[in-house]
Amino acid sequence: MVKVAVLGYGTVGSGIVEVIKTNQDMVNKKAGDEVDVKYILDLRDFPGDPYENLVVHDVDTILNDPEVAVVCEAMGGIEPAYTFSKKALLQGKSVCTSNKELVAKHGPELIRMAREHNCNYLFEASVGGGIPIIRPINASLTPEKIDSVSGILNGTTNYILTKMEREGSDFDEVLKEAQAKGYAEKNPEADVEGYDACRKIAILSSLVYGKNVDFEHIYTEGITKITTNDFKYAKKLGYTIKLIAKSKCVDEKYFAFVSPCMINSENPLYGVNDVFNAVMVHGNTLGSTMYYGKGAGKLPTASAVVSDVIDCAKHIGKTIFCFWEEDNLEISSMEEDVRPFFVRVKGTREDAEKAFGKMQFVEADVAGEVGGVTEAMSEKAFNEASAKCNMISRIRVEA
Ligand code: HSE
Repeated sequence: MVKVAVLGYGTVGSGIVEVIKTNQDMVNKKAGDEVDVKYILDLRDFPGDPYENLVVHDVDTILNDPEVAVVCEAMGGIEPAYTFSKKALLQGKSVCTSNKELVAKHGPELIRMAREHNCNYLFEASVGGGIPIIRPINASLTPEKIDSVSGILNGTTNYILTKMEREGSDFDEVLKEAQAKGYAEKNPEADVEGYDACRKIAILSSLVYGKNVDFEHIYTEGITKITTNDFKYAKKLGYTIKLIAKSKCVDEKYFAFVSPCMINSENPLYGVNDVFNAVMVHGNTLGSTMYYGKGAGKLPTASAVVSDVIDCAKHIGKTIFCFWEEDNLEISSMEEDVRPFFVRVKGTREDAEKAFGKMQFVEADVAGEVGGVTEAMSEKAFNEASAKCNMISRIRVEA
C-alpha cells in the first residue's frame, strides 16, 4: 500500500483526490500497488465532503507519519509550499506538484534533495497542465540535442487573444468577460504580463538544456498593449498574434523570451486557440515534436499530478533521472537576437523605410499610419532604428 498526503484542498488538491478515487483500479494497476489517500492538509474544514475525515491541519501529522510515501503539494506559491516540500524530501517522502512558481524558483535544489534521499520531486503538472511534456523530455527525448523549445503556455492569454482576433474586441473588454466567466483570475497580472508563461518556459528550458534557466533572466513582455488594429494588420499579412514563450540555442548562445509574436499559418502553434496550450520541441536528429492539450483546469492538472504519484509509487527508494543542474545557464541579451519585426509608424512608408530599411507593407485601413514587416535584424539594430522615426508599436515576428 502506498500512502499519499495531499497538501492543499483547493481546485488542484481536490482534483487529485477525485482522480485517484475515480480511477482507483487503474491507478493501483499502473502503480503496481494500492494507492491510498491518507491525509488532506488544509487550514479549513470541509463538513459534508466525502473525505472530510482525512483532513488535518498540522503538516507534522503527515511529515511524522512513516507510512506516507508520497506528498502532493497543491498549495501554490512559494511559502509554506517550499518549506513543507523540503521537509518531506528530507524524510525520504516523494513530492509531486503543479506549483510552477516553486519549481521555477527552487526546482534544482529540490531535485537534488530528492536524489540525496532516494526519492523524487516530480512536477509534470507545472507546465501545460494536463499535457504530458516533462516526462517526454526526461524519458523520450533523451538522445536528442535539443536546440529550441517554444509554446503557448498560458491558457488565459491564449483565450483573450483568440477572442480579440475572432470578435474584433478590445483587450480590456475580453479580459472583463474572461474574468466574469472564471477563465481569468481577478488579479490577472501573472497571466497577462507573461509572468506565468515565463516560469513555465524557465522550467522547460532548464530540463532540455540541463542547466538552470533563471526565470529572472528571461525577457518577458505581456499582451496588454496588443490592440484590435494589430489584429487587422496581422490578418492582412496572413499572421495571427500569440503569446509565445521560447528558448533556443543559436551558435552556442542561448536566448529565452516571452513575448506576443506574429506567426504565420505554417507555424503549428498558429492553430492553437482558446484555452489550449501547446509545446514544440526541436531536436537535432528528431526534428520537431509537438504536444497539445488543456493547459489548465482541475482534472487535467490533477491527472498530471496523479501520473507523478504513480511514477513515485513505482520507484519507491529510487530516484528517476532528471537532467537539471543547479548551475545557471547563461542567457544572452535579447539585443543580440535576430528576427523580422512588424512595425506601425506614424508617417509615410518612406519615413518607415528610412528608419528600418526595406519593408513589406500592408494596408489595413488604419488612418494616419503605415504598417509592415522589416527584414530580419537584431533587436539592437531595431531599437536604434525605431528611435529614428515616430513608431507607434512593434510586434516580433517568429518563424
Ligand atoms: N493561469 C494559468 C493559465 C493556469 O491561464 O494557463 C495554468 O497554469
